[in-house]
Amino acid sequence: MKNILLTGGGGGIAKAIAPFLTSESYRLLLTTRAADSLKLFCEEHSIPAEIFGADLTLPAEVEALFEWTETFGGVDVLINNAGVSHASASWKLTADELHRLMEVNFYSAVRCTQLALQGMRAKGFGRIISVSSVVAHKPAFGTSAYTASKSALEGYMRGVAIDTATKGITANTIAYGYMNAGMLNDVPSPILEAIKQGIPQEQFGRPEQIADAIRYLIESEYTTGQTLHLNGGQWMP
Ligand SMILES: NC(=O)c1ccc[n+]([C@@H]2O[C@H](COP(=O)([O-])OP(=O)(O)OC[C@H]3O[C@@H](n4cnc5c(N)ncnc54)[C@H](OP(=O)(O)O)[C@@H]3O)[C@@H](O)[C@H]2O)c1
Repeated sequence: MKNILLTGGGGGIAKAIAPFLTSESYRLLLTTRAADSLKLFCEEHSIPAEIFGADLTLPAEVEALFEWTETFGGVDVLINNAGVSHASASWKLTADELHRLMEVNFYSAVRCTQLALQGMRAKGFGRIISVSSVVAHKPAFGTSAYTASKSALEGYMRGVAIDTATKGITANTIAYGYMNAGMLNDVPSPILEAIKQGIPQEQFGRPEQIADAIRYLIESEYTTGQTLHLNGGQWMP
């Protein structure tokens, strides 16, 4: 059985994909800043997951998280899903705002990856999957900070892939288009309709499609250093 650690467990996409990531092959470990409410959610939806409360911007809490994962035999698959968005025209964006965004979207993933790699290198097996966005490739107005943070994450994953290439470890990114969960719910409906018209498949992505991509990256030994685009044709490399 492989242990999957999914960060940002209380977020919309994490809650939507969690049911698809529990099976006889996978044990799901979730981390969130709101452990009590996520436990309740998992109980109500019969999702068999282990849950640990941590703020990933605090190094001591990330260390405690990884100590806790040892209870289950460590992390085989790390999914760096925690992320925040920030809308601001680039001429208004301050360095402090960008710094706060980078703390969650980039440095938290770096902290988790570094600690996960310690166990993965010892095991000779590991999968690191980070979550990026189509916006990193096709920015919209006001997304320079978000674009920068996700671009940094993708570059970091490529570097990790090289460092771990002979260790049984792969490191990849999935760049979501507009998925029908989480952050998308914050977008006003007239804008949502306009976005949908810009997607060749004319629909938002579904949670089970995300889970399919994750399972592929877990099972594929020879896919590393890649960004897998999941966007209904909205952007093509
Ligand atoms: N929805 C989309 O269409 C879409 C498109 C492209 C990319 N994405 C990416 O997909 C990922 C999930 O997004 P979502 O749509 O599910 O958004 P969401 O509902 O806002 O969830 C994001 C989660 O990130 C976690 N987080 C934020 N700050 C944190 C911190 N300091 N420490 C620990 N966790 C923190 C939070 O988890 P807790 O509340 O559990 O602490 C939050 O619920 C993000 O990386 C996002 O950029 C989403």
